[in-house]
Amino acid sequence: MDNKRRRFLKNVGVGVAGSLALPAQSWATSAQPIQASLALLKQFRNKNTEAYWETVASQFRFAKGVHYFNNGSLGACPLPIREATNTFRNTLDDFPSKYMWGGWETEKEATRKKVADLFSVSEEEIALIHNTTEGMNLIARSLALNKGDEVILADHEHTSAVAPWTVWQAEKGIKLVRPVLPILPKTKAEIVSVFKNAITPKTKVISLCHIVNTNGMMLPIKEISKMAHEHGILVAVDGAQGAGMVETNLKEMDCDFYTVSAHKWLFSPKGIGIFYAKKEKQSLLKPLIVARGYKDNSIRRLENYNTRNLPELLALGAAIDYRNTIGGAIIHNRTYELKHYFLAKIKDVDSIILKTPSNDELSAGIQVVELKEKDVKDVKTMLFDHYGIDSRPMTKFGLNAVRLSFAIFITKKDIDMLVDALKTIAT
Ligand SMILES: Cc1ncc(COP(=O)(O)O)c(C=O)c1O
Repeated sequence: MDNKRRRFLKNVGVGVAGSLALPAQSWATSAQPIQASLALLKQFRNKNTEAYWETVASQFRFAKGVHYFNNGSLGACPLPIREATNTFRNTLDDFPSKYMWGGWETEKEATRKKVADLFSVSEEEIALIHNTTEGMNLIARSLALNKGDEVILADHEHTSAVAPWTVWQAEKGIKLVRPVLPILPKTKAEIVSVFKNAITPKTKVISLCHIVNTNGMMLPIKEISKMAHEHGILVAVDGAQGAGMVETNLKEMDCDFYTVSAHKWLFSPKGIGIFYAKKEKQSLLKPLIVARGYKDNSIRRLENYNTRNLPELLALGAAIDYRNTIGGAIIHNRTYELKHYFLAKIKDVDSIILKTPSNDELSAGIQVVELKEKDVKDVKTMLFDHYGIDSRPMTKFGLNAVRLSFAIFITKKDIDMLVDALKTIAT
């Protein structure tokens, strides 16, 4: 935002509020419900116990009888974040013009800083957008590619990347190269070589998922970025399934762009997303929406929507506070603990076949399994109708498997119940 606009917003906010002498509602008020929940979590000296994770789970709430193994489709907000969001909404509706036009500028910037710290980058590299789909559109729409240039998009890419590249670039004569990824690779090198072999002198961009939504395979972004940069190729990452599930240090991963739906593994309210662009690559980007303030040279020009979803944006800050109270590394380790617990339980069950690479470098909190000689649509229906287990059936790429997501509200007891259900359905 340019300084003139900042000054204008400040004046509007401060001037009107001052004249009516309204009570100072905002961040302080909305932080109250979250403080109580954080205090409860902080009482635990040892986070490495099921009692701790059951307490975390108790701060989420699902419809009666629902066991939610479908975080890969959409995350859930813990109760304190729901409350924080509602408080932000009420605060906004108590005085719409004040809060929409500058009254929350400090809080908005504080959220940006929290996001930047989460990914080990500068706040001048973070835009707060709506979702991954928007981030991929922003990249695919912006880049000035020439006829005949090539963009590599592996076969497992989500429609949220395939559609923007197709509509914004393929129609201009850019070739989309679609290499085939192995379903069950054993090493990172196997995946890197798929991308390497797809490169030609015309390749300008590799656009890829951090974790593919089909079978939970994690792609080696750091290694692919290194290889791509040696060839002068940009790397754009769809982080919808990565960010929050596993520790994500964007400085180390060294991709050029990374885009996130915070409403998945960061457990924010719906419709708030994150867009990272490396400082030196930001000039390649053109905002999808232009409005007042469009001359701003900072990354804020990419989120210049005028009226927007500020309660959700600020609640993302609260969601990061919640996450930090548990600890990013602790969440990362717990995700692997749940994965290992699940894999150990199905290891000797012949009728349950794992369709996700088991190597920890190649998968984390999403695992997909096939039940021998069962149609996945029936499996999905039976899981839900008989046990209340929500999962996602995956049928592309020869998969006939249910996708199971192990988010922080899943406990070992939930996994016991899940595996018992899978075994019964398999017989
Ligand atoms: C890999 C991947 N990319 C993009 C998306 C789209 O997310 P959103 O609708 O939040 O933009 C999803 C959603 O499931 C996804 O799994």
